[in-house]
Amino acid sequence: MGRLSHSQAGVTVVTAMTTYLSGIQPSGLQHLGNYFGAIRQHIELQAEAGEHFYFIADYHALTTNRDPAALRECVRETAITYLALGLDPERATLFRQSDVPEVTELTWLLASVTGMGLLERAHSYKDKLAHGVKPNVGLFTYPILMAADILAYDSDVVPVGKDQVQHVEMAQDMAGYFNGAYGEVFTRPEYRLAGEAFTKVPGLDGQKMSKTYGNDLWIFESGKRLKKRVGKLVTDSRPPEEAKDPDEILPMDFLALFLDPGELEEWRGRVREGGAEAPGYGHMKMRVVEAMEEQFAPARARREELLADPGRVDEILEQGGQVAGNRAREVRERALAACGLR
Ligand code: ADP
Ligand code: TRP
Repeated sequence: MGRLSHSQAGVTVVTAMTTYLSGIQPSGLQHLGNYFGAIRQHIELQAEAGEHFYFIADYHALTTNRDPAALRECVRETAITYLALGLDPERATLFRQSDVPEVTELTWLLASVTGMGLLERAHSYKDKLAHGVKPNVGLFTYPILMAADILAYDSDVVPVGKDQVQHVEMAQDMAGYFNGAYGEVFTRPEYRLAGEAFTKVPGLDGQKMSKTYGNDLWIFESGKRLKKRVGKLVTDSRPPEEAKDPDEILPMDFLALFLDPGELEEWRGRVREGGAEAPGYGHMKMRVVEAMEEQFAPARARREELLADPGRVDEILEQGGQVAGNRAREVRERALAACGLR
């Protein structure tokens, strides 16, 4: 919980404010799943009263990335993506995780009160093992670093996609273990999910969209490349005039991301009825391309401006790191004092 102090008629008034925090891994280009499942929600939340912290989880990326130049590039691209899509550095603090090294120290304090069993139950870790990933210790302890990220800023609300909910619950558990041992040091965070409809944006092949599956569509894709990618949306060979269930057609899922409810219902009705007026798959894909070009046109233009002004992006990240660092250092002092290191 943040504390806002201001003077009113000579008396200092302290108001508690809600602190919102979330992180995103700089792993490749951000896709529509990342946008509808996470980024859009982060940006919309800026409008709510409170303090907002958004960071690029570059320490986390080290558990899987071995290419320093690519990592640097991804961090920059992720920052530009948030800024281009509307993150306002006047309202929200945007920073690099590694600019606040205090979180790695808090990770140790939390690791020391956390049982192995908790981490062994992590779905995302088990999923990675099931996909044949050879785990390093960093990957195993990933949820502790994530808990430190959350607890270091006294975060109240953590907006995330469904797959991250368990990690936030683990942060609640770790705050509980530490507080149970040493007194009320950490604030218990709550997660917040994006709208139900967008918890699982499908990929070009109909599975969950993910960079790892190569079925993703970059937010800023446009022109010929966009047409080519959207052309890959998996469909069957039924003719347009055959009546179909719109819920079973992948291009309709994509239209649902972009069209207003009135237009979407009109497309759905025509698909359901079939006949000479019904749209074919090519027609639906063309509308996806148009709608996506249109929705992201302003952000694409802002992205170009930011690409041309790298100093501005560096400055925003640096200032963000200072603001976040100041907050984390207060929490660090509190935690060190509580457990006997001061
Ligand atoms: P990826 O699977 O492509 O590597 P990440 O795991 O980095 O994506 O996810 C970053 C954020 O985007 C998370 O909050 C996650 O819940 C959200 N997200 C990722 N893919 C999707 C999707 N297909 N649908 C909805 N949200 C998603
Ligand atoms: N693990 C999150 C993801 O893959 C990124 C992340 C790291 C995060 N630290 C966080 C999200 C703290 C919310 C809060 O998407």
